[in-house]
Amino acid sequence: MLRIEKYIEEVFYNAIHKAFPEKEVKPLEITIATNEKFGDFQTNFAMMNSKIIGGNPRKIAEELVNNIPENEVIEKLEIAGPGFINIFLKDSFVSKYVGLMTSEKYEFKELDTHGDIIIDYSSPNIAKRMHIGHLRSTIIGDSVKRLCNFLGYHTVADNHIGDWGTQFGKLIVGYHNWLDKEAYEKNPIEELERVYVEFTKQSEEHPELEDIAREELKKLQDGDEENYKLWQEFIKVSLQEYNKLYTRMGIHFDTYYGESFYHPIMPSVVEELVEKGLAIEDQGAKVVFFDEKDNLHPCIVQKKDGAFLYSTSDIATIKFRRENYDVNKIIYLTDERQQDHFKQFFKITEMLGWDIEKVHIWFGIMRFADGVFSTRKGNVIRLEQLLDEGKKRALEIIEEKNPNLSAEEKDNIAEVVGVGAIKYADLSQNRQSPIIFEWDKILSFEGNTAPYLQYSYARIQSILRKAEEIGKPLNEKFDMKISEKAERNLATYLTLFPTMALRAGEAYKPNLLTDYLFELAKKFNTFYNSCPILNQEDDVLFSRLVLIDRVAKTLKTGLDLLGINTVNRM
Ligand code: ARG
Repeated sequence: MLRIEKYIEEVFYNAIHKAFPEKEVKPLEITIATNEKFGDFQTNFAMMNSKIIGGNPRKIAEELVNNIPENEVIEKLEIAGPGFINIFLKDSFVSKYVGLMTSEKYEFKELDTHGDIIIDYSSPNIAKRMHIGHLRSTIIGDSVKRLCNFLGYHTVADNHIGDWGTQFGKLIVGYHNWLDKEAYEKNPIEELERVYVEFTKQSEEHPELEDIAREELKKLQDGDEENYKLWQEFIKVSLQEYNKLYTRMGIHFDTYYGESFYHPIMPSVVEELVEKGLAIEDQGAKVVFFDEKDNLHPCIVQKKDGAFLYSTSDIATIKFRRENYDVNKIIYLTDERQQDHFKQFFKITEMLGWDIEKVHIWFGIMRFADGVFSTRKGNVIRLEQLLDEGKKRALEIIEEKNPNLSAEEKDNIAEVVGVGAIKYADLSQNRQSPIIFEWDKILSFEGNTAPYLQYSYARIQSILRKAEEIGKPLNEKFDMKISEKAERNLATYLTLFPTMALRAGEAYKPNLLTDYLFELAKKFNTFYNSCPILNQEDDVLFSRLVLIDRVAKTLKTGLDLLGINTVNRM
C-alpha cells in the first residue's frame, strides 16, 4: 500500500499533464498542512513553477485546480495566499485508507533498496561490561535497522566489537598480577574490569608497567600461544555477558566481526595506500596527509613498530565489505567524539577510489551532571543495573494499579515497560543533543514516554475485549465511517504513519517517530473521551472499533520500529 500523498499526487499529475502539457515542470511536493484551516495537505507547486510555466502563481494554481475532475480522493481545493493550494480529503477516502492500514505492507517505491545496508552499531570494547554509554549506539542502531527494514531495505547488523588494541596488554598484565581466581570464576568480566582499573591505578605509581603491557601486547600480536589463548577467553566471556543483555533488549546482530577479524587484510591496505602514493613514510610511521581544504589531521595507518591502528582496521573493514557484500550503504553509530576519525577514514577510502556511500550517525554523550562516564574511573552505571532499576520501578506501579494480576504477568509487564521506558527516553531525544543522565527522567512513565504509548495500546485492547464480551467483536472488514470531528482528526493523523516512518528512516532520527506516536496516542485519548464506543448503535460501534484497532496496530508497529514491546493489559 502506498503513502496517502501518493494518491493525491496521482490526481495532481494527471491535471498537470493536462494543464501544462509542454512544460518541464519541477516535481510536485505535497506537504502536510500545518493548520486544519489549510486542509489536510498543501502544495506550493504553482509558486515553484511560475517561472517555468509563466504567469502569476495564483493563476497557475487556478488553472491546475480547474483541470482536476471530481475524484475519490479530494473533497475540496482552495487557493490561498500567493498561490498555495490547500487540499481537503474526502472522509470516505480517509476511511477507506484507514480500513486498509496494517493489513497490507507499505511500499516505498521511490527508494533505491538494492543490495545491503550494513549497520555497524553497539560495538563495545571487549573485557568491559557495557554501561549506559553503550546504550545509545545499541538502541539507536537497532531502531535505525528496524526502520531500514520497514522501508524495504535488506540490512546486515554488524557488531564491530573492539577486540584488538592496547587494552589487551594491560589486561594480560593485570590478569597475571592481581587476578582473584575465585571472583573470576564467579563473574569473569567483572573481575577483568577490576583488574583493568587496578592496572590504571598501579601504573600511575609504576610507569614501567606500561612498557610491560606493551610487550605483552606485542607477544599477543606475534601469535604467542599463551597470550592468544587468554585473549580468546576474554572475548568469549565478554560476549557471553553482552549477549545476555542483547537478548533482554531484543537486539539481534547478523555478524560479530570485531576489529581483529580484519587484521589479516590490514597489511594489504597499507600496501595499497603506499603504492598509490597516498600514505608516506614519516619518522618511520606510514601516514596519510590530506589536502588543506579537507581540514583534517594527518592519519597514521601504521606505527613505527609495525602496529596498525583503529583507522587501519576501519579502512580494512570497508575493503572487506566491498568485496563480500553488494553494499547499498554503510551506516555507523558512535558518539560525537569519533567524528574526526570517521571523516579521516571516509576521506581515505574516497582517495582510494572506493565508491561506497557511508554515513556516520553520531550522537551526544550521556553524562552525569558532574562528568562523563568512564570504566577506567569506575564511575559507571552498568546497563544491567539500569534495566533492573527500570523493571523495579515499573513493578511498583503495576502492584499499585493492578494488584490482582498473577505474579508472572506482573513480572512480564514490568520487564516490557521498564526496558521500553529506558529505550524510549533515549530514542525520543534529538540524538545530537547531549544527555544529562537522571534516573527520574530516564525512568519516567508519564507524558512523552513508552509507558504512555504502551498504556494507550493496552487500553484499546481492553475496549476490544469488552466489545467481545458484549457479543459485538471487532469486524476487521467493517466499512468505517467518520461522523465526529475528533474521529476525523484521529483518522487523518493515523494515515500519516508511513510518511512519518519514512521521514524518521531517511533522517536516521527515531525521535521523529516517537513524536508522531505520542501525538497519535494523545489524539486517540482525546477521541475516546468525546466519542464513546460500546454504548453506540451498531454502525457507529463497529466503525469505531475498526478505527481504534488500526490505531492500536499502528502503535504496535511504531513501537516495534523503536525496538519496544507492547502488552495486552497493564
Ligand atoms: N569499539 C569502538 C568504541 O567503543 C566503536 C567502534 C565503532 N565502529 C567502527 N567501525 N569504528 O569506541
